[in-house]
Amino acid sequence: MERIEKETTYQETRKVEKGDFAAAGQISASYKNMLKRLGVDSKVVRRLAIASYEAEINLAIHTFGGSMTITVYPDHIVLVVKDTGPGIADIGLAMQEGYSTASEQVRMLGFGAGMGLPNMKRCSDTFEITSELGIGTTIEMGFLLTP
Ligand SMILES: Nc1ncnc2c1ncn2[C@@H]1O[C@H](COP(=O)(O)OP(=O)(O)O)[C@@H](O)[C@H]1O
Ligand SMILES: [Mg+2]
Repeated sequence: MERIEKETTYQETRKVEKGDFAAAGQISASYKNMLKRLGVDSKVVRRLAIASYEAEINLAIHTFGGSMTITVYPDHIVLVVKDTGPGIADIGLAMQEGYSTASEQVRMLGFGAGMGLPNMKRCSDTFEITSELGIGTTIEMGFLLTP
């Protein structure tokens, strides 16, 4: 008899420290390995890897630190990216391609092209961002596993 699994299959929370460029990309790389192991479609893995990489870099560049929680359900994945930080004054402006407040120093490291938030939105099936000035920002992205 077939039974529809409603339970969570996997959940993991990891922290990102402010300015930790040495570790940048490790979380998205580990997601990629974990999702491949779980047999997730390679196109979905690629989209989630891009979105999570951008989120991870943003935590290091723009915030005082934060966390990323991935939850894999039988039919979708939810990625919640939460930080304490300055918050975003104008989300519409921040979402524009090429808009960046990254410092010269950060740009020298190869970040700050202003494509992170637009890429997160493009690569996810659902994208929600909320921000409070002086408090922090939360981004929730959803990825469908079934076509
Ligand atoms: N978590 C965040 N907290 C505060 N500001 C942010 C955050 N994420 C993005 N921003 C703001 O939005 C801008 C655009 O972000 P993004 O598209 O990722 O480009 P980039 O990171 O290259 O600057 C950033 O330069 C920054 O001003
Ligand atoms: Mg960015």
